[in-house]
Amino acid sequence: MSTVTHVPVLLNEIIEALAVQPGGRYIDCTIGAGGHAAAILEQSSPGGQLLGIDADPEAIQIAKSRLGAYKDSILIINENFVNLQAICLKYDFLPVNGILFDLGLSSLQLDSRRGFSFQHDAPLDMRLNPGQEITAADIINTFSENELAQLIKTYGEDEYSRRIARHIVRKRPIKTTLQLTRVIEQTIGSRRGKIHPATKTFQALRITVNQELENLKTALRQAINLLGFEGRLVVISYHSLEDRIVKQLMQQEAKDCICPPTTPVCVCGHTACLRLVNKKAITPSSREVQLNPRSRSAKLRVAERITTQEEYYQTAEKLCYAMNVKAGGWRRPAQLKKLRVTYSALQSN
Ligand SMILES: C[S@@+](CC[C@H](N)C(=O)[O-])C[C@H]1O[C@@H](n2cnc3c(N)ncnc32)[C@H](O)[C@@H]1O
Repeated sequence: MSTVTHVPVLLNEIIEALAVQPGGRYIDCTIGAGGHAAAILEQSSPGGQLLGIDADPEAIQIAKSRLGAYKDSILIINENFVNLQAICLKYDFLPVNGILFDLGLSSLQLDSRRGFSFQHDAPLDMRLNPGQEITAADIINTFSENELAQLIKTYGEDEYSRRIARHIVRKRPIKTTLQLTRVIEQTIGSRRGKIHPATKTFQALRITVNQELENLKTALRQAINLLGFEGRLVVISYHSLEDRIVKQLMQQEAKDCICPPTTPVCVCGHTACLRLVNKKAITPSSREVQLNPRSRSAKLRVAERITTQEEYYQTAEKLCYAMNVKAGGWRRPAQLKKLRVTYSALQSN
């Protein structure tokens, strides 16, 4: 087993953001080497429960061996978090008090010979799970020049996408990370600003191979539905494409109306189901970045589940019904009106 370790990013901030309580039920959707998971288990003891998920079977082995001492409180599943809802239903693990996504890759993966990093020569693979069909080499060697340019532009946000794509196509077949890195360096030079010139192309390939953005959008929506009242959704992202998805979804779900600003009267019927715990993303301190440079691009966003109007009315109706049955009379409209007024007052505070 690898001797390389992964240092969990924003550890104290994560525990605070999840509001971890003894006896609580939590999900770590990206358990990795188990650093955050260990802290959650520690804080939620006694009686806490944790469901840990990771798409990478190697990460699962590492997490299982690290967290062996907590075996009665933890369930570790080798799955993609895109199936979060199905996993929770299968294991009857809902509702939950907090859900964590620590996106991207662990240091173990970056330092492995699985093609994730341009710093280590390895076959161009990049699959989180070796069971997936498409590798980075398949994309590099079979996509058209146009498709490659589009991919590097969209998922790498690289202004040199066309030039890089043209050179890749000329130099094919390209089988290894080092070969690809050389092609990119020959195209746009070996240094460019603070980051290596291959960084963005590697990011674009990894996102495509693992369908990272689509999976994140799907999983975040499922996560919101799995949270109990005041449950926390906590996400650390490491690049702007991920962060934009997290930010936009949280902001949208914290609003009662999502009609375009030009619409005179609300027609969407949308109701808020989240409260933003922090208006701005939390970032690591300079001390943390110094100790763990891989934390430098981390952005933490936190939201809390609130009751939607619809859920509130449903509960209110059930309550009114129960009260009426008890009182032997029919007072529903008056009771409901009162509850609606109380709810509106709560909302506007
Ligand atoms: C930054 S690491 C997590 C590190 C972990 N928080 C710790 O403290 O050790 C991200 C992990 O998420 C996993 N991952 C990324 N995308 C995933 C997905 N769609 N489904 C499940 N796991 C995923 C990766 O395999 C990796 O192990």
